[in-house]
This record gives sequence, structure tokens and C-alpha cells, in this order.
Amino acid sequence: MKKTWTLTFLFVFVFAAGATGQEKAEEEKQHAFIGVAKCKTCHRTAKQGEQFVLWEKSKHAKAYETLAGHEAKKTAKEKGIENPQTAKECLKCHVTAYGVDEKLLGEKYTITAGVGCESCHGAGADYYKRKTMKAITAGTLDGATVGLIMPDEKVCVGCHNEESPYYKKFDFAAMSKKIAHPVPKAAESK
Ligand code: HEC
Ligand code: HEC
Ligand code: HEC
Ligand code: HEC
Repeated sequence: MKKTWTLTFLFVFVFAAGATGQEKAEEEKQHAFIGVAKCKTCHRTAKQGEQFVLWEKSKHAKAYETLAGHEAKKTAKEKGIENPQTAKECLKCHVTAYGVDEKLLGEKYTITAGVGCESCHGAGADYYKRKTMKAITAGTLDGATVGLIMPDEKVCVGCHNEESPYYKKFDFAAMSKKIAHPVPKAAESK
């Protein structure tokens, strides 16, 4: 069968190319960022678990604003950085999708949202539709195939690491608790 043949070819290709080839294939499958305002439309009610409301109150939502503060300016100055809100050295961890091709930034994406949903859950353009979201939750669709990430410690330490001028030893369990935003149903069934 043609399909089987193509699949076999793909496997051979991936194995032959090794890890770097695999990484490249993943890079090619880029999803676009849609911004927190989009996630808000479905994830703000108490019934859903008000993930947006909890996020908005968190430090992640203020991460861009923080870079305009006195403390940030002081640290930046020591490093010879004029304006932390435009510096790669700071933005790379204080906003979502820093350095991503502009073509992949949706109309509602804004740098001012700081560390938004998509910093942890992945770019949302291919998973945000209700039908897709429900299929993922129901287990009939693998979220990873449409870019959805259920973040583990590895995602957090992408930013919570020694490169941060204010690094504090990262305790995944304790820090996750601080930002917890479960869907009520799931919380009840535990
Ligand atoms: C059109 C409505 C809608 C939008 C927009 C939307 N979601 Fe969802 N999302 C849902 C629904 C419905 C569920 C299923 C939750 C439930 O069980 O009640 C869900 C589930 C999820 C889950 C849990 C998946 C799992 O495996 O259990 C995550 C994480 C999530 N959404 C993140 C996001 C993020 C991040 C965005 C924005 C990029 C977003 N959603 C935008 C409706 C939406
Ligand atoms: C894109 C980078 C990034 C990722 C990914 C990230 N964080 Fe953060 N986090 C930050 C930044 C930046 C701050 C500081 C924001 C500020 O104070 O303005 C922060 C602050 C926090 C705080 C508040 C700390 C305090 O002292 O109150 C908690 C809790 C936290 N993060 C937990 C997590 C967890 C858990 C994960 C992974 C599931 C995670 N973060 C992933 C960048 C990130
Ligand atoms: C490697 C990722 C990373 C980089 C790069 C980074 N930050 Fe942060 N920043 C964080 C995280 C994570 C936190 C939260 C503190 C923590 O728990 O480690 C934070 C917290 C802060 C805070 C709040 C500190 C507090 O205690 O209230 C300021 C201010 C700040 N960063 C400024 C900067 C400036 C200025 C730059 C650029 C020179 C920068 N950061 C670069 C990740 C980063
Ligand atoms: C700092 C990282 C981070 C940010 C920012 C973040 N989340 Fe999450 N989210 C997590 C983690 C960690 C989990 C738990 C993953 C797990 O259970 O495996 C989670 C779980 C969820 C779930 C599933 C809850 C359940 O009980 O099944 C939904 C829905 C969700 N997030 C939506 C959002 C939305 C919407 C936003 C933005 C308003 C957002 N998240 C922002 C890290 C984050």
C-alpha cells in the first residue's frame, strides 16, 4: 500500500537522520501564537475553573511590566542594558514567544501579556477550537499533534534557571501549587 510505504520511508528517514533530523522535523511543524485574550473566551468562568482569572493575578501576567520597574532597570544598567523592555537578554524569559517569526504571531498576541498561557501550553492556533479542545480532553486526540503541551518541570526550568538574575532554587511541586488552575471536574474526581 502506498500509505504504508510512505510511513516506512518516513521512519527510515527519521532514524537515518538521527536526533538532529528529528529536531528539524519538529521545528518545521510550527504553530502560531494566538494570545491570552483568545484563551480567555473559554477559560474564564468559575465552571471552567477560571484559569484566565488565576493567571491574570499571577506574577507571570506581570512579567513584562516588571521589566519597567526600578529593580529591573537597576539590574539592566549593571549589565549595560538601556531598556529591559526591549532587550533580548530579559525578554527571552519575561514574555511569550520572544524571537518568534512575526508571521506566527496572531492579531491578539501582545508582548504586554508577559508570560502567557502559550509560554507553558504551546502555541494555540491549532488546538484552541472547542471541538479540538474537547477531543483532547476526551482522549480521542493527542494534544501534542496540534501543539498542546501539558507542562512538566522541564518547561518551567526553561526560564526558572541560573541565567535569571533573580534565580531562586526552583521547587517544582511548591511552585506549581502557587499557579494551580485545575478544571473543577478533575479536582472533584480526585
Ligand atoms: C473555544 C473555547 C476554547 C478556547 C478558545 C480555548 N480552550 Fe482550552 N479547553 C476548552 C474546553 C471546552 C476544554 C475541556 C475542559 C473541560 O474538561 O471542561 C479545554 C481544555 C484545555 C486544556 C486541558 C487539556 C487536557 O488535556 O485536559 C488546556 C491545557 C487548555 N484547554 C488550554 C487552552 C489554552 C492555553 C488556550 C489558548 C491558547 C485555550 N485552551 C483556548 C475550550 C477552549
Ligand atoms: C517563559 C518563561 C517562564 C516559564 C516557562 C515559567 N515561568 Fe514562572 N516565572 C517567570 C518569570 C519571568 C517570573 C517573574 C515574573 C515577575 O515577577 O514579574 C515567574 C514567576 C513565577 C512564580 C512566582 C514566584 C514568586 O516568587 O511568587 C511562580 C510560582 C512560577 N513562576 C511558577 C512557574 C511554574 C510552576 C512553571 C512551569 C509549570 C513556570 N513558572 C514556567 C517565567 C517563566
Ligand atoms: C533565564 C530566564 C530569565 C532571564 C534571562 C531574565 N529573567 Fe528576570 N526573572 C526570571 C524568573 C524565573 C523570575 C522569578 C524569580 C524566580 O523565582 O527565579 C524573574 C524575576 C525577575 C524580577 C523580579 C525580582 C523580584 O524578586 O521581585 C525582575 C526585576 C527581573 N526578573 C528582571 C530581569 C531583567 C532586568 C532581566 C534582563 C537583564 C531578566 N530579568 C532576565 C527569569 C529570567
Ligand atoms: C507557568 C506555566 C503555565 C501557564 C502560564 C498556564 N498554565 Fe495551564 N497548566 C500549567 C500546568 C503545570 C498544568 C498542570 C499540568 C498537568 O496536570 O499535567 C496546567 C493545566 C491547565 C489546564 C488543565 C487543568 C485540569 O485540571 O485538567 C487548563 C485548562 C489550563 N492549564 C489552561 C490554562 C490557561 C487558559 C492559561 C492562561 C490563561 C494557562 N493555563 C496558563 C501551567 C501553566
